[in-house]
Amino acid sequence: MDVFEDLESNVRSYCRTWDTVFARADGSRVYGEDGRGYVDFFSGAGALNYGHNNPLLLRPLLRYLESGAIVHSLDMKTQAKRRFLEAFRDLVLIPRELDYKVMFTGPTGTNAVEAALKLARKVTGRHHVLGFTNAFHGMTLGSLSVTGNSMKRRGAGIPLNNTSSIPYDGYLPPGTDDLIWLRQILADSGSGVDKPAAVIVETVQGEGGLRAARAAWLHDLSEVCRAHGVLLIVDDVQAGCGRTGTFFSFEPAGITPDIVCLSKSISGYGLPLALTLFRPELDLWQPGEHNGTFRGHNPAFVTATAALETYWADTGLQERVAARTAELREGLEEIAGWSDGAQVRGRGLLAGIFYPDTRTAARIARQSFAAGLLVETSGPESEVIKVMPPLTISAEDLATGLDLLAGAATTATREASLAPSR
Ligand SMILES: Cc1ncc(COP(=O)(O)O)c(C=O)c1O
Repeated sequence: MDVFEDLESNVRSYCRTWDTVFARADGSRVYGEDGRGYVDFFSGAGALNYGHNNPLLLRPLLRYLESGAIVHSLDMKTQAKRRFLEAFRDLVLIPRELDYKVMFTGPTGTNAVEAALKLARKVTGRHHVLGFTNAFHGMTLGSLSVTGNSMKRRGAGIPLNNTSSIPYDGYLPPGTDDLIWLRQILADSGSGVDKPAAVIVETVQGEGGLRAARAAWLHDLSEVCRAHGVLLIVDDVQAGCGRTGTFFSFEPAGITPDIVCLSKSISGYGLPLALTLFRPELDLWQPGEHNGTFRGHNPAFVTATAALETYWADTGLQERVAARTAELREGLEEIAGWSDGAQVRGRGLLAGIFYPDTRTAARIARQSFAAGLLVETSGPESEVIKVMPPLTISAEDLATGLDLLAGAATTATREASLAPSR
């Protein structure tokens, strides 16, 4: 009897594609209870940027837990929270000249997004929010209302309103200005479109097919929003914490969003933690107006502080990510070159290959697993193979993973050429 299939809800998903029982993990490797090893090009969907069981984060966590220090404390003052706030201020905010208040929401990405949407509406007194085609912001109702995927939206079971979806960078045919509609309706009081409270954007669409917005487009978006008093929310839940090469994914665009959502790798160790950051003038919350039992979990503060102190006090990690990014890009370009119409997408270590035949990426993911590589798909039709190794992966492990991916792509594309066309 398989207790997972017997007892666990039909909603389970990753365990269907990777049908093994995982037992151990170390850096960029995970192991099943049968002893099989896998190279990890998945990184807990972006929650494990510093790899599995990173000893530099584990040691302070074990010391903290063994010391009798407080573990659960809602949003009370604790020593662990003080150290985290100080490290976040000194290593993240000050060096980037960012002046943000830090709000601890419930511990998942969708909580950070819900808080951002609520705050934008409260501050502006407007109800409408604009999201982008193929966006993904989480599975609670507010986040779903600005998410593109129709299957996920249907799951809400109620109309998802007070939002509209507008074209992301590159969505419209080449040569078309994707922001033209936004510019026009905001400038025209007769447009019939209610002025939005906010626009919410991912700089790279992690779940929606790895489309990466150009820096110039993000800059234009920010300017349009600023000109019309519309708040700009950057959802950096997946693309943030170094994933695209800088701590915040919006840094190369030279913009300062009004509100930023962070989660996934902010704790550094795979422990749940989420933050919503916003300009101090926007901090109009009444005490307790948005709360939750698990806001700011002390073990997560400990590993988050260790991650910031270990990886963000100098430029070492960023330099390593830049080197791995170049190697990854080269490997992906080579694999993409084997299939007509395949295209490399993404930015930094959040990259992959789009295949015009929507069956190919799923086949590659399946073959990869059989060969000893964890890699998932992205996009509305799962048409993109998505590669997201730990930022700390060695050049050797990255090369091994790319070899496995190349082998899987060869087998999968051969399978596709033998399969009857649809
Ligand atoms: C950009 C983005 N926002 C929000 C979320 C939701 O995060 P969580 O699954 O922790 O609620 C995700 C999850 O993949 C995401 O990629």
